[in-house]
Amino acid sequence: MRSLDEFATAKLGELERQSLRRVLADTTRVTGIWALRNGRRLLSFCCNDYLNLTHHPAIKEAAIQALRIYGVGAGASRLVTGNHPLFGELEARLARWKETEAATVFGSGYLANVGIIPTLVGGDDLVLIDELSHACLWAGARLSGATVISFRHADVGHVEALLTEQRRRHPRALIATDGVFSMDGDLAPLPALAAAAQQHDAWLMSDDAHGLGVVGDGRGSNFAQAGKVDIPLQMGTLSKALGAYGGYLCASAEVSDLIRNRARSLIYSTGLPPPIAAAAIAALDLIAREPAYAALPLAKAKAFARAASLPEPASPIVPVVLGEAEAALAASRLLEDHGFLVTAIRPPTVPAGTARLRLTFTAQHPDAEIERLAQIVRDRILVRPRESVAASQ
Ligand SMILES: Cc1ncc(COP(=O)(O)O)c(C=O)c1O
Repeated sequence: MRSLDEFATAKLGELERQSLRRVLADTTRVTGIWALRNGRRLLSFCCNDYLNLTHHPAIKEAAIQALRIYGVGAGASRLVTGNHPLFGELEARLARWKETEAATVFGSGYLANVGIIPTLVGGDDLVLIDELSHACLWAGARLSGATVISFRHADVGHVEALLTEQRRRHPRALIATDGVFSMDGDLAPLPALAAAAQQHDAWLMSDDAHGLGVVGDGRGSNFAQAGKVDIPLQMGTLSKALGAYGGYLCASAEVSDLIRNRARSLIYSTGLPPPIAAAAIAALDLIAREPAYAALPLAKAKAFARAASLPEPASPIVPVVLGEAEAALAASRLLEDHGFLVTAIRPPTVPAGTARLRLTFTAQHPDAEIERLAQIVRDRILVRPRESVAASQ
């Protein structure tokens, strides 16, 4: 339809003018760290495959075996005929690993967040959400119809002030935050948030998509700071360090039962493919068996940051904030010229004026390549803003 195509063209033109138009680039990941793009073999530093388990022989074998026996897809929603016994096994292992009574697996992390939050809070209720939380936590919060108020990033004082002012106006309150922030790599102040939640009878929910497998001895961000922090709603994904796909919620038996009864993105969506559940189980086994391996991505991120003269990271994610989208795109192109794949991250994924390179470190990245990357970032990318400031004076 002409008006529809004109609408799309105008919108795309707007994005183009702001250097915010995106294209899907064909990328073939040939190992856990190497990728083929535009006919070139590039060392990827922007994947969430922190433990390179997407290509691990034992994990692939687990998926292949399950695929041979059970087929590809689940065939229906979990509440109809799609609830393969592997899901129960996966959920039991997740609950054991996260030390909760139960766990519930969803089709993806995004589906988990948009299913969990509207099941627990509604129009009369309150959601306080860290301003830098992932888009799907925001989506779940907005979908719930609750009053949604963002708090300043990692600012527990702000959370306390909002709870003092707002809590009594709402029957239920939920505090939502990334455990490891996806674009910044820092950890949420979970011990203090848990204390504030306890004091005001609010429910704390963490999204540990980037924590599971790589911080807190592989158990996630609530095990990474001063012992174990009790969080009643621990959401995460199987698609990053576990190298598979799917989302989960670890919670009490009662909450898990309610989620299975009411979360629309679980009820009205097909269950995970059984081979993917088999891969996730094998990945969890590996992480539990090999803590030294699970510690490598963070150690490599720290080595990079030292070499690039950047602040020490708390997770395998290291942001290099450059400002405008064009600067991030130019830095990404420069790195590609040197054989590295690092996608530029631009608004709206990050706030305006904070476009960046988001570097992610994985267990198998060679130390010499990390050193070479650090040199380029330090000498060719981070010096640029200072040079241009000097030139304009
Ligand atoms: C913090 C965070 N939460 C949730 C998700 C969504 O998870 P999934 O990719 O499994 O949908 C992502 C990843 O994209 C993420 O970074």
